[in-house]
Amino acid sequence: MTDHMTKRIAFGLASLGLAACGTDAVIAQTETRVMTALQASQMEIGGRLSVARFDEEDRLVYPEDVDAWVHVGSNLGLNYNEADFDPDSPGSFGVVTMEPTAYRYFMETGRFADGSMFHLTFHRVVRDLELSPDGFATGAALASEIHLKDSEMFPDGFNFFTFAPTQTAAAAVPLPNDCVACHMANAAYDGVFTQFYPAMNARLAQGAGE
Ligand code: HEC
Repeated sequence: MTDHMTKRIAFGLASLGLAACGTDAVIAQTETRVMTALQASQMEIGGRLSVARFDEEDRLVYPEDVDAWVHVGSNLGLNYNEADFDPDSPGSFGVVTMEPTAYRYFMETGRFADGSMFHLTFHRVVRDLELSPDGFATGAALASEIHLKDSEMFPDGFNFFTFAPTQTAAAAVPLPNDCVACHMANAAYDGVFTQFYPAMNARLAQGAGE
């Protein structure tokens, strides 16, 4: 068994060890075990996460559980342009989440498994000038983008899929593209902007890939 596989199995067992205590927790405990066993099995198939689903035209299917992904970071007005900041029109909010199995794998190992997915949603900015003249809050979603890591599918190990609000499947952004180029040049770790995701950044400070 390779060291890599041993770590994967150890990770799966660690997930299964999440046992709850107390009699009224029995049902919750059973559900947790079923969930973690399912997630552990998703880790093992072909030695990679198998959470991403594709349709018959090789388009990535928009994940149904995306609202339950793990929040890793948010930005305001990071729209990749150089226009001056205008508080009356601050741009959109960007909210970045990560697929939960992939997040746990990263936190356990300090590296990304193939099949890891990130989700970036741009939200309209809303304000309530009476309640808080200087405040900005999250409005409706405008568009979403998914970052998929896959070293077999993509030459740089990752690529992107962009979705309008009700779109259920999307083809990969054709390569080469500006998305991958900017992420390769500026993202802190393996094409991902971990410098802006505090918990992931802290994990990397303990050592990448350890
Ligand atoms: C000029 C640089 C630049 C370009 C071009 C760019 N991005 Fe990004 N991208 C960023 C930055 C900076 C972040 C961090 C966002 C944050 O902190 O909220 C990011 C984050 C993301 C994330 C969240 C996960 C991650 O990788 O950190 C996704 C998904 C994403 N971008 C998709 C895209 C797509 C799709 C395109 C092309 C249509 C694109 N990006 C083009 C700079 C860029």
